[in-house]
Amino acid sequence: MPPTQSHRDFLAIPDFSKDELTGLFALADRMKRGVHVRKPLVGKILAMIFTKSSTRTRVSFEVGTTQLGGHAIFLSDRDLQIGRGEPIADTARVLSRMVDGIVIRTFAHADVDELARHADVPVINGLTDLQHPCQVLADILTIRQNFGTHEGKKVAWIGDGNNVANSWLDAAYRLGFDLALACPEGYDPDPKLLARAKENANVTLHRDPREAIAGANAVNTDVWASMGHEEEQKAREKAFASFTVDAKLMSAAAPDAIFLHCLPAHRGEEVSADVIDGPQSVVWDEAENRLHIQKAILAVVMGGERLG
Ligand code: CP
Ligand code: NVA
Repeated sequence: MPPTQSHRDFLAIPDFSKDELTGLFALADRMKRGVHVRKPLVGKILAMIFTKSSTRTRVSFEVGTTQLGGHAIFLSDRDLQIGRGEPIADTARVLSRMVDGIVIRTFAHADVDELARHADVPVINGLTDLQHPCQVLADILTIRQNFGTHEGKKVAWIGDGNNVANSWLDAAYRLGFDLALACPEGYDPDPKLLARAKENANVTLHRDPREAIAGANAVNTDVWASMGHEEEQKAREKAFASFTVDAKLMSAAAPDAIFLHCLPAHRGEEVSADVIDGPQSVVWDEAENRLHIQKAILAVVMGGERLG
């Protein structure tokens, strides 16, 4: 944190140290089990700016804030003056005078950086074109709940090198587990985040999904066309044709492997219905874990909760 900043943001997974992440998982577990009974957000207001659609992120932040004693305000760019060109910096300054924290989901990651630079309250990244950090922390929480730990586990990412894939790279960088990605040529993850993750973890990039999935403990995929890429759907269907996670591909993972998907999913595209609706799928626990991990994040950055 810069010395002039009295609050902390959560824009990407490396904003927390390895120890802090371990503490966040423990806090989220306590919240899930109902052991954490404090209400650190009493009297606090969270503003939630969304310029893209959302079911899970919006509902989990809103519900989580209420459960912690606070109040959340949903702000769509269709209603905000941002949608009519008011600068992000001015929006940050004004919201900082009225609320205690801001969640933002938008397109350009630079816009979130800009908001955080000018806000005097914590800013949490609810998804950008570059990152989806809350999602991947929920995914790792799910892995820990299934295997007791994420350490020594192999995660396979099959599909687009998108925002979720990039946050997996950041997680491997911070936590050091094995990560194998299979992406078609032209759809690789962010090269800087890939290079940095490779410095600290066994991270490999493949063109053949069978190579990446071999022996994996957790198999993860996502839509072929993320929000903002809808017009590329047809071209992407061609490029990703051999990347569907189906029963045959899953059989190359570890026998007790779990299947993860951030949702929403397109059955018959990136995942077959028998896999996402089958016994190895933990996608509903994974979706629920968004609530628990984000409550832990809110309690820490907005509610003064201490980790450890
Ligand atoms: N996984 C996820 O972020 O879902 P929403 O787009 O519904 O928020
Ligand atoms: N990669 C997807 C994630 C949706 C939660 C997207 O950005 O649309």
